[in-house]
Amino acid sequence: MAPAAPDVSASLGPLPGQNPPPSAAPEPVLFASPNVTETDIEAVTAVLRSGWLTTGFESAGLESDLQDYLGTAHAVAVSSCTAALEIALAHLRLPNGARVGVPAWTFASTALAAVHNSLQPVLIDADPGSLNLSPTALEPALAQGLDAVIAVHFGGVPVDKAVRDLCTASGVPLIEDAAHALGASDDRGLIGGPGTPAACFSFYATKNLTSAEGGALTTDDPELAAFARTYRLHGMSADSLARYRPGATAGYDVHEPGIKANLPDVLAALARSQLRRFVEMQDRRRHLLHRYRRNLEPAGIRFVPEVVSLGSADHLAALLLPEGTDRGAVVANLRAAGIQTSIHFQPLHHLQWFAANAEIGPGGLPVCDEAAPRALSLPLHLGLTIADVDRVCTALLDEVAR
Ligand SMILES: Cc1ncc(COP(=O)(O)O)c(C=O)c1O
Repeated sequence: MAPAAPDVSASLGPLPGQNPPPSAAPEPVLFASPNVTETDIEAVTAVLRSGWLTTGFESAGLESDLQDYLGTAHAVAVSSCTAALEIALAHLRLPNGARVGVPAWTFASTALAAVHNSLQPVLIDADPGSLNLSPTALEPALAQGLDAVIAVHFGGVPVDKAVRDLCTASGVPLIEDAAHALGASDDRGLIGGPGTPAACFSFYATKNLTSAEGGALTTDDPELAAFARTYRLHGMSADSLARYRPGATAGYDVHEPGIKANLPDVLAALARSQLRRFVEMQDRRRHLLHRYRRNLEPAGIRFVPEVVSLGSADHLAALLLPEGTDRGAVVANLRAAGIQTSIHFQPLHHLQWFAANAEIGPGGLPVCDEAAPRALSLPLHLGLTIADVDRVCTALLDEVAR
């Protein structure tokens, strides 16, 4: 029989040999926790027993499942969203130093994907309501000259259509960082679906669908899809199945200076299994987030996005603390009460390497600067009960009232 999945919360308890705390501490509320069922475990162990661990039929199966779910022509499974971004940028074949507009309000890897392609990130300010890339800030940056743009659907909230329109009007390719946005939709339908030149998804452990580590690139463009299939495996002309499955005879050539970014079958099986119940998982997520808003908004807590986005994938319970709140104290006191939180994001220009090396777009980054000390993300995962959400809200409101 497969061993039981480890209880993550146990790792937060006393170490073996340590005395338990004198009074029973309340159960910790983790910021994120993967939703792994027995069915997921069976799917992964079936691959472990199959004799084929790396990229093969499961990975191909995940690609076709994603194509069906999103309605996209091509899905290419890769080792991370970062890799998908790197591949999408490499396919543009921009000269060294070409300028890529990226939101300052994102995770480092959005911009590092450009850096790893020898491109220059140009940081663009956020829309104050959603903290997504601001069309108003993007317009003068495009006028100044950008060679590509990466837009992030922050927290799963689709980026303003005006961003797409501006890029189209300027003839500048747009890559979507959809790390938070599986299940999100805008006027085109599901993000990463038909009409998408390049969307990059993450299946990292904290995401709304996980393969532990992993990602996918989806596109309408058969040429990009073919490039990605080669580029994700060193630019080789034949993959592992073609070379090593029983009876295989293929040799290989190297057509591109690719990267190592294929998704192994062991991981693909987990993502595939989760995708089968994804709609149900998203319903639960939406319900929890709705409860957060219902509890906190009447008390004046400002969520991001400020206005509920019906197309959101509800990836984060992100908010802005009231101006002047000592966020460090709030985080520490919530931690002491057993509640983990996170911060999405520290804007890139506040991080050492980007402060020294990234360019800042015209108009600067005032919205990001204003939001940065106030941003806080509350726990949001399927292991939470409504009582957990209520407990987090009560603790947060106590902190804010201090
Ligand atoms: C907006 C954004 N883009 C990209 C990534 C990178 O995803 P991955 O870890 O799959 O490379 C993350 C990771 O959390 C993210 O938040």
